[in-house]
Amino acid sequence: MAASWTFAVARAELSRTTLVEWAVPELSDGETLLRVDRVGLTANNVTYAVLGESMRYWEFFPPGRHGLGGQWGLPPLWGFAEVVGSTVAGVEVGQRVYGYLPPAGHLVVRPSRVDASGFRDASVHRAELPSPYNGYRSTVGDPAYRADQEDLLILFRPLFFTSFMLADQIVDNDCYGATSLVFSSASSKTAYAAAVELRGRGARLVGLTSPGNLAFTRSLGCYDEVLPYDGIAALDPVPTAYLDLSGAPATRAALRRHLGDRLVRDIAVGLTNQIPNADAAGEVFFAPVQMRKRRLDWGRDGLDQRFADAWRRFADVAGEWVDVQLGTGPGALERAWLDVLAGVTPPRAGRVVQF
Ligand SMILES: NC(=O)c1ccc[n+]([C@@H]2O[C@H](COP(=O)([O-])OP(=O)(O)OC[C@H]3O[C@@H](n4cnc5c(N)ncnc54)[C@H](OP(=O)(O)O)[C@@H]3O)[C@@H](O)[C@H]2O)c1
Repeated sequence: MAASWTFAVARAELSRTTLVEWAVPELSDGETLLRVDRVGLTANNVTYAVLGESMRYWEFFPPGRHGLGGQWGLPPLWGFAEVVGSTVAGVEVGQRVYGYLPPAGHLVVRPSRVDASGFRDASVHRAELPSPYNGYRSTVGDPAYRADQEDLLILFRPLFFTSFMLADQIVDNDCYGATSLVFSSASSKTAYAAAVELRGRGARLVGLTSPGNLAFTRSLGCYDEVLPYDGIAALDPVPTAYLDLSGAPATRAALRRHLGDRLVRDIAVGLTNQIPNADAAGEVFFAPVQMRKRRLDWGRDGLDQRFADAWRRFADVAGEWVDVQLGTGPGALERAWLDVLAGVTPPRAGRVVQF
């Protein structure tokens, strides 16, 4: 048994946090121990907590395993971990992997489908949870990996995958007949990455953002126009698809009022405002649906290659759009969580924590 730590938040009050010590159990046959090394925090991690119950995000890392009661939740994070113990052939000590990690010093996984590209955690409690979250990708042989861009992968990889699939679905459907695509929370990484992918592919791109984030969002140059939320009346009344990353009910209502039946599509993608509002949208974007379609169209390797190519192009520009703010240790994770939850992290800042 080795001593480790866990950060958790009260499920009913996400700003109430705790840091506890726990003992890492001895490995059983078929298990591997990961040491969580470096993770990122963006609004997306807060969404996992807001939807922790309804979308089962709390179930990935059960608090009971960390000696915590069910009133606590472990918000999932993305980042790198290192194999520090393994009873599984092909998963070797020293291997570095990218994946879905708990806010804790360590994670015990049960690797299955082990190959050169990594493995999947086949732990029983994860079997029924969405499979894209259960893969751990080895840095060796990963076409998207570059050691000098680890922080970009930490911050953007799952977001960019969503953006890539969202943009692909929109283009695949001829923009649903829209000549304008309007994004809320246009300053968010997921939104601007989608805009980068959609640029020059048919529709005009309009970003909506908070007054304080206008200058940043305009400076990116990936939108044709950027307006504050109270500027919706200035939108051209043309066929429009709304890509909602904010979940703000007032923004949806203002768009409906202004555009009427010219609002041809209303797609919920995120909820930076932390108000679940997807039921009010016309549909909810779910990346695995388009992913399945493209696996059939392009094959698994074809999709992987297209994603890696798009990622390379994006990483070259996004490196200029984010200033990594690096913290160290569990205390820095707690501070980053509280800042991101409160929405006080400027869009240019990328919160990364090293343990
Ligand atoms: N459907 C999916 O599969 C999927 C996948 C990835 C991400 N998403 C969602 O996309 C959204 C953006 O995620 P991200 O990680 O890209 O975000 P991010 O880069 O951390 O975005 C930060 C931006 O979100 C807005 N914001 C942040 N905190 C806020 C708060 N407390 N109150 C109001 N606004 C706040 C602000 O934008 P503005 O001032 O511009 O509003 C802020 O600049 C999240 O809701 C995430 O869950 C969905």
